[in-house]
Amino acid sequence: MPSDFDRLVSALRRAKRVSVLTGAGMSAESGIATFRGAGGLWEGRRVEEVATPEAFSADPVKVWRFYEGRRRAVKAAAPNPGHEALAALEARFPAFHVATQNVDGLHRRAGSRNLVELHGCVERRYCVVCRRTEEDLEPLDDLPPLCKGCGGMMRPDIVWFGEPLSVEAWEDARQAARESEVYLVVGTSSQVYPAAGLALVAADAGAEVFEINPEETPLSPVFTGAIREPSGKALPRVVAALFG
Ligand code: OAD
Repeated sequence: MPSDFDRLVSALRRAKRVSVLTGAGMSAESGIATFRGAGGLWEGRRVEEVATPEAFSADPVKVWRFYEGRRRAVKAAAPNPGHEALAALEARFPAFHVATQNVDGLHRRAGSRNLVELHGCVERRYCVVCRRTEEDLEPLDDLPPLCKGCGGMMRPDIVWFGEPLSVEAWEDARQAARESEVYLVVGTSSQVYPAAGLALVAADAGAEVFEINPEETPLSPVFTGAIREPSGKALPRVVAALFG
C-alpha cells in the first residue's frame, strides 16, 4: 500500500494544474499564532469583540489594538520552509494557484505570485470615508490611524465575520479550485466558510484533494488523503521528492 505521501507525489507528477488553500497553520512555524485551539488568538476572546464591523463601530481603538499587535507580529516574522516550498512549486507547474485565508502577507514575501488573499492583509488599511489606501507594517502610534487625505478613520483591510469576500478574489479562487487536478488543503481547520468550501468545489470537479495538517478536520473524511505533519516539514519533503 503506498502511503498518502507517495500518492500525493504521484498525483503531482501527473498534474499540470495544481491549487492550494492555506490557513493559519501554514504560518505557525513562522511564529504566528493560529486562531482555534490552545494558545490560539480566539482563546479567551470572542470573535465578535475584534473581528466584526459591529465591534469596529462600537470601539475602533480596541479593534485597532488587536490588529496593531498582529501587524507587529507579522513584521517580526519571516516566511518558513513551507511558504518557500509553495513558491518553488509555482515555478514548476504550468498552472499553480494559492488561495490563502491568512492576512500576514508571508506567501507574497516568500515569492508566491499567483495568489489571492481571501481575507485581506494586515499590511493594508483604507479610509472608511474616501477609500484611500495605505500599505506598510510601520508601527502605528496613534490609534485609530486617520486618513492623510480627508481625515476620516482608517480600518484594516481585513474581511471580518459578517462581511462578504471580494467577488473578484472569490471567483479567482473558485475557478482555480474547479480547474485543478490536485488540490492541497494546508494548515486550516476547515471550519470557516465560504473559504473551506473551495476544497469541496475542487473535489466535486474531480480533483484529488490532499490535506496537510497534523490534526484531522471536519472535512478530512471527504479528502483523497492526508499528510499528518507540520507544513514546514511536509511541503519541503514534497518538493524534494518531486525535484530533488
Ligand atoms: P485555525 O486556527 O482555525 O486552524 C489552524 C489549523 O492549522 C488547525 O487545523 C491546526 O491543526 C493546523 N496547524 C497547526 N500547526 C500547523 C502546522 N505547523 N502545519 C500545518 N497545519 C498546522 O485557522 P484557519 O483555518 O486559518 O478569519 O481559520 C480560518 C479563519 O478563521 C481565519 O482566516 C480567520 C479565523 O477567524 C478571519 O479573521 C476573518
